[in-house]
Amino acid sequence: MTNRELMERDLRHLWHPCTQMKDHEQLPLVPIRRAEGVWLYDFEGRRYLDAISSWWVNLFGHGNPRIADAIARQARELEHVLLAGFSHLPAIELAEKLVALTPEGLEKVFYADNGSSAIEVALKMSYHSHRNRGEERSLFLSLSNSYHGETLGALSVGDVALYKETYEPLLIRNVQTPVPRDESPEATREALEALEALLEARGGEIAAMIVEPLVQGAGGMHIYAPEYLRGARELTAAHGIHLIADEIMTGFGRTGTMFACEQAGIAPDFMALSKGLTGGFLPLSAVLTTDEIYSDFYCDYREYKAFLHSHSYTGNPLACAAALATLEIFETEAVLEENRIKATRIARNLERFLELKNVGTIRQRGMIAAVEMRGYTPEERKGLSVYRYGLEHEVLLRPLGNVIYFMPPYVITGEQIDRMMEVAYEGISRIEN
Ligand SMILES: Cc1ncc(COP(=O)(O)O)c(C=O)c1O
Repeated sequence: MTNRELMERDLRHLWHPCTQMKDHEQLPLVPIRRAEGVWLYDFEGRRYLDAISSWWVNLFGHGNPRIADAIARQARELEHVLLAGFSHLPAIELAEKLVALTPEGLEKVFYADNGSSAIEVALKMSYHSHRNRGEERSLFLSLSNSYHGETLGALSVGDVALYKETYEPLLIRNVQTPVPRDESPEATREALEALEALLEARGGEIAAMIVEPLVQGAGGMHIYAPEYLRGARELTAAHGIHLIADEIMTGFGRTGTMFACEQAGIAPDFMALSKGLTGGFLPLSAVLTTDEIYSDFYCDYREYKAFLHSHSYTGNPLACAAALATLEIFETEAVLEENRIKATRIARNLERFLELKNVGTIRQRGMIAAVEMRGYTPEERKGLSVYRYGLEHEVLLRPLGNVIYFMPPYVITGEQIDRMMEVAYEGISRIEN
């Protein structure tokens, strides 16, 4: 089978995510046969370094044998059982570990099966918990430029016009406050002042504020300071508003600490986890919350306060087994320490991009780095040229508009970091000429 044959078969029936399908009249689709470590292999013997961890999910390499074995063992034991009225060991153990790992106060775990579903759970739980206390708060607050997923609730609290605008009439009530424009103390202070003013005016209507802690992913890897998070935590608490930390992308070491919230020393009322949770093997998400919020739902059945939300695959044992194997790698290997060395190497490579006239800014937090090109409109689709150049040179880069970013699996070696970033550098410098 050739790549071309597979592409033709694929395009006969498949409708791909987040894609203008007509693009594939010119843009080749890349069928992948197998993968190992940082490498994806196609059907014609070509390979691609997965610089974006396959949409930010992979942590310890494709085909990681520890995670693969754990899934296989679990599949022979118990592949699935409903989680209402029944339970199983992987779900219990994983909940215990997540509670131990996350900030103080997060004691209860509700499973769902992807990032967006976790956001829906957190939004519904927040609204419902206020309601159970006799307070009607139906407005949600998020940061400008944020992204929290594609289902209607998650889309409502996002702020990327490209994804959101079309569906505006369908969305739940939401309002945005400016994200700090950069990491400087002035930007942090200005954004906190804006938040404070908004909460003074409308705080009583707001159920929860949701944030991507420290790094806004789909919004172009935009980075802001931990001090903003600390301020937002204080202000939301003062107004009786829940804080939802969406650590779906930032969790599990991406920003240098296990969770980004740790860098601000804050504990949110809800934390949403997914993506890296299973090491990138299976869809699973978890929403952690406090005993206090849990107790808002705890009463006799006839009071009708229960959280009647479910998904068929809630807490799937295979996915929980993958997550446990992933956490075991964190427990037995010095992952965060080794990442620090890799992040330093990324930082060294990043500096060089500023030599290019068509590069505006560079930014980095832990194992996430970004290069923002300047002087191009989104319609020029310059990022796409870098994507194509990357593929021709064995690197999968998938720019967000004019932002070329790096979020590789943690198993990447120093030499592979150099090569990944060299290819991006060449790809960007070619556009300049
Ligand atoms: C911060 C954040 N929240 C939520 C989501 C949605 O997750 P999913 O794509 O699994 O629905 C994403 C996905 O990119 C994300 O980056």
